[in-house]
Amino acid sequence: MDIRIRILDKPELALVRRVADVVWPVTFREILSPEQIAYMMEMMYAPAVMEREYDDGISFYGVFDGEKPVGYLIWGRSDSAPDTAKLHKCYLLPEYQGKGIGSMMLNEAKAYAKEAGFAKLRLHVNRNNAKAIKAYARNGFQTVATVDKPIGNGFFMNDYVMEVEI
Ligand SMILES: CC(C)(COP(=O)(O)OP(=O)(O)OC[C@H]1O[C@@H](n2cnc3c(N)ncnc32)[C@H](O)[C@@H]1OP(=O)(O)O)[C@@H](O)C(=O)NCCC(=O)NCCS
Repeated sequence: MDIRIRILDKPELALVRRVADVVWPVTFREILSPEQIAYMMEMMYAPAVMEREYDDGISFYGVFDGEKPVGYLIWGRSDSAPDTAKLHKCYLLPEYQGKGIGSMMLNEAKAYAKEAGFAKLRLHVNRNNAKAIKAYARNGFQTVATVDKPIGNGFFMNDYVMEVEI
């Protein structure tokens, strides 16, 4: 394995979607209905949505094994607190999970956010996503809130908010 993390250009955003199409059904098959997965994929990964986020200053990073895209890391400033950055997404292909790459990604995210002047990094994670919660806790994130957020079509995101000082 030759794992590297680098910032993506706007024309490369399609690779995020390609990785998401593989990771999402596996991650959420026992947590969300197929209908909610399909709804959230369009809500978060439609090309126009990602392009708008990119234009708004959100940073998209790709995780590569050599030339092969195997994950992504997306972060930006938080709307709720000026000293806090938000980790929007942190995803790895299933065969790359459980090898310490997630921790490498979280360390990178902390470093980018710190360098940009933020004091904390915050994220939302589904309360039933035990694997991700474990990875975040291992990397110093602590649960600071519980939120049930309606996202339309009768669907909810049932999340923990987790935070780490950087
Ligand atoms: C969340 C996610 C990014 C975490 O990545 P990860 O690589 O699995 O997490 P870690 O880096 O913490 O992996 C640690 C595991 O690798 C093992 N490991 C193996 N080699 C290692 C090494 N060199 N260094 C560190 N850990 C290593 C650890 O023992 C640990 O195993 P365990 O979980 O059985 O205790 C990843 O699991 C993922 O993409 N999940 C699906 C998508 C998802 O849920 N994303 C978050 C949505 S909010």
